[in-house]
Amino acid sequence: MKSDDAWLPGRTDIDWIESLAQPPHPALLAIEAAAAPEDIPIVDRDAGRVLSVLASGRRRIVEVGTAFGYSTLWLAFGQPADGTIVTIDPDRSRTDRARGWWREAGIPDARITVVNAPALDALAAGDADLAGPFDLAFIDALKPEYQAYLDALAPRLAPHALVIADNVLWSGRASGAVDSAPGDPRVAAIRAFDAAVLADAGYTATILPVGDGLLIAARRD
Ligand SMILES: C[S@@+](CC[C@H](N)C(=O)[O-])C[C@H]1O[C@@H](n2cnc3c(N)ncnc32)[C@H](O)[C@@H]1O
Repeated sequence: MKSDDAWLPGRTDIDWIESLAQPPHPALLAIEAAAAPEDIPIVDRDAGRVLSVLASGRRRIVEVGTAFGYSTLWLAFGQPADGTIVTIDPDRSRTDRARGWWREAGIPDARITVVNAPALDALAAGDADLAGPFDLAFIDALKPEYQAYLDALAPRLAPHALVIADNVLWSGRASGAVDSAPGDPRVAAIRAFDAAVLADAGYTATILPVGDGLLIAARRD
């Protein structure tokens, strides 16, 4: 219900939620400011806040797609103080800058390990850093590879682990609410990934219409 003092024209629910929330750490604001002019795709701030909540109590996290480490930092803030994250991105120029912002945020280097390689190669190589078991896996890299990332990560998930994936609504194109180019392989891959995970009896899963769509799947055992 609207109340006159709480409602301002043009203000969205997201604006209101943001007005109630703790202000983002300056390092998160610095990443937002750096990413926008360089067109570096990062999760929306509201999705970052969800990642932080879902990281609560999750000691070991693996992330596919680091970029400037924005989602990594939201995850790190939500984790227990002794939690660790292994994050994969072949672009070292991005992850080196991410390390600077993580330091600015006071995250000890030992908490975040970066693997600079394409994720499917790194996961196939059996790198010790990626052995698991992981309590949470966050997927946010090449859309046509989402299912392959999950297939490679699944044996490394701890009981009751969470799998989270970003961009699973792909700006309305996954559902068809917004038209996409015929045969766009990213749309087809995201649709297939969403359908497969939500139908998988091994997970309790849904999609939150937060940011560009966050798929959340909890391992049932
Ligand atoms: C959407 S951005 C990640 C954004 C980050 N999760 C955030 O919200 O701050 C996707 C990243 O995936 C990386 N990437 C591209 N190919 C990859 C691959 N094969 N394996 C892992 N990461 C890849 C890109 O370099 C890019 O930085």
